[in-house]
Amino acid sequence: MIAVVLGTRPEIIKMSPIIRLLRERQEDYFVVHSGQHYSYDMDKIFFEELELPLPEFNLDVGSGTHGEQTAKILTGTERVFEQEKPGVVLVQGDTNTVLAGALTAAKLHIDIGHVEAGLRSYDRRMPEEINRVLTDHVSKYLFVPTPEAKNNVLLEGISTDKIHITGNTIVDSVQHNLKIAEDKSGILDDYCLKRGEYFLVTAHRQENVDDKFRLRDLLKALEALHEEYSLPVVFPIHPRTRKRISECQLEVPRGITAIQPTGFLEFLILEANARLVLTDSGGVQEETCILRVPCVTLREHTERPETIEVGSNTLTGITPEEILLAVGTMLGRGTNWTNPFGDGRAAQKIIDSIHNG
Ligand code: UD1
Ligand code: UDP
Repeated sequence: MIAVVLGTRPEIIKMSPIIRLLRERQEDYFVVHSGQHYSYDMDKIFFEELELPLPEFNLDVGSGTHGEQTAKILTGTERVFEQEKPGVVLVQGDTNTVLAGALTAAKLHIDIGHVEAGLRSYDRRMPEEINRVLTDHVSKYLFVPTPEAKNNVLLEGISTDKIHITGNTIVDSVQHNLKIAEDKSGILDDYCLKRGEYFLVTAHRQENVDDKFRLRDLLKALEALHEEYSLPVVFPIHPRTRKRISECQLEVPRGITAIQPTGFLEFLILEANARLVLTDSGGVQEETCILRVPCVTLREHTERPETIEVGSNTLTGITPEEILLAVGTMLGRGTNWTNPFGDGRAAQKIIDSIHNG
């Protein structure tokens, strides 16, 4: 029996192809939701849009410090795994849910499959880096998206027979949902946006938005971007960021279209039709690469270096000058790169690898 553990927006999106396939093949599986994300637009909307059944278990852990959140997920997953006795626990990515789900399974001697293993920013100040390194080292199956990710874990002494290059399930998810999104989403009309005539922004990394001065600089940079190009700047604001803007008594500048986080179908349409996307998200760097839309990443390091290598993405600091320079550079490049994240059959390869032992 396979236990699929998830807890945040990107995990729901990236686990959805695996859950869909497990269901189609009538496999013995269940889903545990940690409840790390719980607001409707960070959680339930994705189950609805992606037509996923509600999880069999929801731990409802909610928000808290890293220690509190991780501890609650450890306790909750232990209870569920002891009761259900899964043979394999699948986790995806690098959140606190992933680390806690994997650690519980490791202590109970249950095999762990880490989907999107092997990513490294080599920046240990990022909580995600700690989560992904530790999870890789307790996993039996490391489902790495690319040869580069495989190399990262080989260098850490993980044996090659544990590592499976599968591509990233985000390709499966984009391929499955893009046409559905085109048919269903009216978001461009809702905000009077023309194809190729707006910028899209997301920002939620702890290193960016928890620091008042970086957050202030980011907002100033968005204003400068709007003034320089006279184009709308659409900013679906992550709840962490919205909370920090309010706590720091900052304001979203004039000309920025600040909206609630959107569903995945709406976000795919916003990404696919943007002139360029600015982000500090991991998943958005991948999706823009897959959709052939230029990306500027508001970070010093990326654990997705493949996007830089193929030319779909660049890294930048957060001042208006740095951001305008990066945007200018990316707009001057073509978009004819090759997607390095696989062929859209990652879920199938992952489940087949588990069955092949
Ligand atoms: C988490 C992950 C991050 C991932 C992101 C995806 C960790 C350490 N961080 O960051 O790697 O990129 O999810 O979006 O696991 N909040 C709500 N509603 C929600 C969820 C959160 O209002 O449904 C607010 C709360 O004020 C909370 C804050 O957002 O304190 C941060 O949430 P948290 O889950 O701790 O971290 P994220 O920034 O979402
Ligand atoms: N996303 C979404 N609505 C939004 C912003 C992002 O559906 O308003 C999706 C996006 O398509 C991607 C995922 O959320 O698949 C990325 O999540 P996030 O940036 O929160 O986390 P990260 O990838 O950085 O861990």
